[in-house]
Amino acid sequence: MTQDLNILADIKNRVATLTINRPDKRNALNAATRSQFIEAMGQLETNDEIRVVVVTGAGDRAFVAGADITEFAGRSAVDQLEVMKRRTVYEAVDQFPKPVIAAVNGYCLGTGCELAMACDIRVVADNAKFGQPEINLGIIPGGGGTQRLPRLVGLGQALKLMFTGEIISAQRALEIGLADEVVPASDLRTHVTRLAATIAEKSPIALRCIKEAARASARMPLDEGLKLETSLFGLAFSSEDKKEGIAAFTEKRSPEFKGR
Ligand code: COA
Repeated sequence: MTQDLNILADIKNRVATLTINRPDKRNALNAATRSQFIEAMGQLETNDEIRVVVVTGAGDRAFVAGADITEFAGRSAVDQLEVMKRRTVYEAVDQFPKPVIAAVNGYCLGTGCELAMACDIRVVADNAKFGQPEINLGIIPGGGGTQRLPRLVGLGQALKLMFTGEIISAQRALEIGLADEVVPASDLRTHVTRLAATIAEKSPIALRCIKEAARASARMPLDEGLKLETSLFGLAFSSEDKKEGIAAFTEKRSPEFKGR
């Protein structure tokens, strides 16, 4: 498990928490942090003990305040596009087969907002702030913002945020659908731990099938999505976890899902 300066990994009760750890730089993502994050996600993917991942930022000021702007200074467009061809943190989250929760604990800007949007669920501290301020640097979102933001909040709200670079409150993010839940900052950790624990008790196979089908809804026409759902339903239906779930219901006890 990666356990060094830029990404801290903590594993408890089948839940892995990855903390982006550059609080002095408001957890801005530089190259080293990105590659450590991708490596950590790769390890968690193949670790059957892990059922849910939580992504958060170190300290109480920021989730991630964007790409590390200092890295942009000396880069040509060609250099930057080469960097962007490599595997990205957004792909590492988006393609991760288990649930990923963003615990947004402060500034969630640019790349940070894009990383949170790639996660499955965004639980947000009431003092968090969201925005896509790339326009103020004369650039555009490059981590999926132009695609995921309209899907989450609708075209008008997304364009307003990206055209103006406006920073919005957690409450506003909730109203437009960018945040899924807002909790007092002091409760964020406890709340996310409880949510992650609830999900971690479910069948890993069913969770994987739900994630795959629901995520496909953004890419597929309805009839294709419904076919995919049926085939994933069949997969979940053939699992030992299904037998255990039905048996537990019949025997009036809690199920013990094994992920088989
Ligand atoms: N890239 C590189 N460094 C960053 C950064 C980023 N995206 N965001 C913050 N930092 C650094 C600051 O340069 C400062 O470093 P220093 O102490 O060496 O001077 C440190 O983090 C603290 O930032 P500061 O601005 O003093 O903190 P703050 O709490 O007053 O303000 C922000 C926080 C997030 C509002 C402000 O830092 C900011 O606007 N950051 C840039 C946001 C942005 O444009 N992101 C999109 C990038 S594509």
